[in-house]
Amino acid sequence: MAASEKPSPAGASSGNPASPLHVAIVMDGNGRWAQKRGLPRTLGHRAGVEALKRTVEAAPKLNIRWLTVFGFSTENWNRPAAEVAELMALPRRYFESDIERLDREGVRVKVIGRREGLSAELLRMIDDAQARTETNDKFHLNIAFNYGGQADIVEAARRFAEDVATGRRSPGDLDEQMLGSMLATSGSPPPDLIVRPSGEQRLSNFLLWEAAYAELVFQDVLWPDYGAEHLEAALKAFAGRDRRYGAIATDNVLATG
Ligand code: IPE
Ligand code: MG
Repeated sequence: MAASEKPSPAGASSGNPASPLHVAIVMDGNGRWAQKRGLPRTLGHRAGVEALKRTVEAAPKLNIRWLTVFGFSTENWNRPAAEVAELMALPRRYFESDIERLDREGVRVKVIGRREGLSAELLRMIDDAQARTETNDKFHLNIAFNYGGQADIVEAARRFAEDVATGRRSPGDLDEQMLGSMLATSGSPPPDLIVRPSGEQRLSNFLLWEAAYAELVFQDVLWPDYGAEHLEAALKAFAGRDRRYGAIATDNVLATG
């Protein structure tokens, strides 16, 4: 494994990695950002897309290889219809302006989440963006859209149960690795760092399984104001953490022989 690759938690040694390979962000605070300015929430969401652009541009320069962002949760359908409609329009807004550049720069785009509920037009756009960037691997951008961590685990469990019912697998085949490989995020390493701006301190159903050993950083900035300097500050906080993956610190091992 190259020095820059992240070790899997099972074989990991403790320490402070200089920079996380995979960063995941809960893009939160759009509504409050707009309200503070006396603007409709929709404009907060549009400003949020600009923050996403800044962050995607900054991430590779900070040696991040995977970025997963939470754009729309399975619970966001409970918002007023007009706001849901605006949120549904965001991927289009983003892809229309940026997919060409993302592709040119070697970014592979993946959208993770339930397809049910999304319009045929949005699905086509998502499929096009994914197909177009499929062979890129300089940087990976995963967009969680109509995503819920619990729903993703339920779907994987259901598919496994179906395999058992048809005799393709037996119950004993299920372990952490197998379940992990059946999630929407399979193919990406688990996030090293999960960032949530806007002052809220919770995961809100984001990457529940994958978050097992992620470091969590909460920042007091609303997402539309987010930029390279905030990402850098999150990485600085990350660099100060001691990741032990359930083991004990190396100096403790030495001290106790
Ligand atoms: C994040 O901003 C966007 C989505 C959740 C889709 P919010 O809309 O949650 O903003 P606040 O939390 O109300 O400020
Ligand atoms: Mg919110």
